[in-house]
Amino acid sequence: MSSNSDMRPVGIFDSGVGGLSVLRAIRQQLPNESVLYFGDQVHVPYGRRQLTEVRKFSEAITRFLLEQGAKLIVVACNTASAAALQSLRRAFPDVFFVGMEPAVKPAAENTRSGVVGVLATPTTFQGALYASVVERFASNVTLLQDNCPGLVEQIERGALDDSETRTILESALHPMLDRGIDTVVLGCTHYPFVIPLIREIVGQNVRVIDPAPAVARQVARILDLTERAASPRSGTLRFFTSGEASRFEELLPRLFDETGEVWEVVWDNDEIRIK
Ligand code: DGL
Repeated sequence: MSSNSDMRPVGIFDSGVGGLSVLRAIRQQLPNESVLYFGDQVHVPYGRRQLTEVRKFSEAITRFLLEQGAKLIVVACNTASAAALQSLRRAFPDVFFVGMEPAVKPAAENTRSGVVGVLATPTTFQGALYASVVERFASNVTLLQDNCPGLVEQIERGALDDSETRTILESALHPMLDRGIDTVVLGCTHYPFVIPLIREIVGQNVRVIDPAPAVARQVARILDLTERAASPRSGTLRFFTSGEASRFEELLPRLFDETGEVWEVVWDNDEIRIK
């Protein structure tokens, strides 16, 4: 797919603000692409919902982003990718999708201690995608998993370094450190926003893997854009939230170094419309 003459925007979605970690990487690599970002904040967190429900949300959001003109959809959410990537590809056979999966492969290839920690949501751990990644790439390593209860909600509140957030991360990471991890895989797109805190807890000798740059490279490959264009960034950004636009606007500068128009949308049965 060549985007040189295709000025349509890239569509990105997540349950909330987590996908902004993927948007950040896409902006670094493809600064001239316009982007539509959708955060389904009325339904966040996705991580404790049924796979079928997340699938239904993902299909409706995809339909909405395509109606708004998206030329490609980035499922910037591990949970939605686990629940819906396959069914999205079946339901929209002409659309290019880029999804997320926990970066177990690079972790398994590079670990020296042979013990790797994975942080992701319960729904991601339950999905067939995670099982298949583990089966294909992690047969020779010990994987320790934790679903960090409450962490997504903390990040949605903008609480990136308060004591509650620290307690959640310490409860997950201390037992992993005791068992000798040398790598932590961030299997939820919200978690890169707490990397500074994670680094404080695990120290400098543990590698922390954020898959967002690899996902951005995959988007560039599909769009056939190999060159990183010079600044200033010419692509425009537009944000949609099913939560409150004012809250999203307040949170945005804490997580991301750019702004754009923020539009509030509402769910109307299984459809989404701009409020
Ligand atoms: N950001 C998400 C992920 O990558 C979803 C978190 C949630 O809504 O539970 O899994």
